[in-house]
Amino acid sequence: MNKINLYQLRRNALAKEIFTKTGGGIAIISTAPEMARNRDSEFPYRHDSDFFYLTGFEEPGATLVMQVSGNGKDYDVQSHLFCRPKDLEREIWDGIRLGPEAAPKTLGIEFAHSNQVLDQKLGELLADQDAAYIRLAESAEADRLLRHWMKQVRGQARSGVNPPSEFHDVEALIHEMRLFKDVHEIDIMRRAAAISARAHIRAMQACKPGMREYQLEAELLHEFRNSGSQSVAYNSIVAGGENSCILHYRAGSTELRSGELCLIDAGCELDGYASDITRTFPVNGKFTGPQRTLYDITLAAQEAAIGMTKPGNTFMQPHEAALKVLTQGLLDEKLLKLSELGSLENAIETGAYRRFYMHRTSHWLGMDVHDVGSYRETTQAQASTEKPWRILKSSMVITIEPGLYIRPADDIDEAFWNIGIRIEDDAVINDSGCELISRGVPVKADEIEALMKNA
Ligand code: GLY
Ligand code: MN
Ligand code: MN
Repeated sequence: MNKINLYQLRRNALAKEIFTKTGGGIAIISTAPEMARNRDSEFPYRHDSDFFYLTGFEEPGATLVMQVSGNGKDYDVQSHLFCRPKDLEREIWDGIRLGPEAAPKTLGIEFAHSNQVLDQKLGELLADQDAAYIRLAESAEADRLLRHWMKQVRGQARSGVNPPSEFHDVEALIHEMRLFKDVHEIDIMRRAAAISARAHIRAMQACKPGMREYQLEAELLHEFRNSGSQSVAYNSIVAGGENSCILHYRAGSTELRSGELCLIDAGCELDGYASDITRTFPVNGKFTGPQRTLYDITLAAQEAAIGMTKPGNTFMQPHEAALKVLTQGLLDEKLLKLSELGSLENAIETGAYRRFYMHRTSHWLGMDVHDVGSYRETTQAQASTEKPWRILKSSMVITIEPGLYIRPADDIDEAFWNIGIRIEDDAVINDSGCELISRGVPVKADEIEALMKNA
């Protein structure tokens, strides 16, 4: 399938949802704004994921408007793209713009207009649409624009024109679609994960005591960009020694010291899709006894979670499986005291493990690193009670990332101080289980040691 058809199919699928819900309506989805970093300098531009999902269009200053008209039995959809007009002067400075003249053919969209006529056109497009699908409570600016458009439609009331009387959250519909990745998306995610895996290998092989965290970050970035990735999917974490126990640490200037661990959580973004990999390795290439013990517990927890990552299980089952192994390991190593807690079950129920493992094992992965989609079942039947955790299905993508973080404390054996370990892989759920797309980088302790030795 060519790319244009892909986006048309997605718009059509969204139109079908709108038709099913309200018999028709209008959907408005804008892309992300550009953001100033400081004087005359902007943050690297990143499109809005929902907008890109429906258009494949990466320029700023664009809005998609979809008109879904139904006759009770069937529906039709016509899409309008509002984009930056051609402007020779601006294009000399900022780069080529597609422009509304070329947009319909290039993007396979029915109509395109300059974004300068967005206000006027939206007044027309919103007229006599009962249901409008927008991002609810998105921003003050979006609210202001909506008020402005609504005012224009209300201004036509005496001509018999009515504004929409219902507003719905368009994100809920798009995010449900995005939760299930199509073949095209999974292909990109496999390639993104392969690049990130190579970057982790490169960083492990470059690592030597005395280097700084930012130098390993540079190795990661080299592999990302040299492989064609446009960006990081999130700020890279390169955490040496005690920094490995800080969950959202950034690569800093700490020296990487022999005898300590280095935790790297880094993934590239490729063609709009994230990868998310964590590996933890000894700075000098050889795990100490206590490091190895906790590493193997974490890996066993990940294996247990992987075993539960299959269709029909709930989103929480991999987490519960990991939790059991981690907590048993903490009891075995006397980091949690069986004499105080009584049993493994009690250690889990009371949350005693949270001192050493304070995050969940998984999240959705896709265009966004913490991707969209409800973690609970969304059916109406359960609307009045607590909704059950989401059932895993083929073509969902999740991370599996157990960890252990041991900060210094009087009641903790000093041998374990400052050991922070996380092992994270990306899993595409398939018909029988899951495919780990990030295993291009070794994960077993022996294999990591061998890799570093042969550097
Ligand atoms: N890198 C972010 C996360 O693992 O959730
Ligand atoms: Mn993650
Ligand atoms: Mn991560």
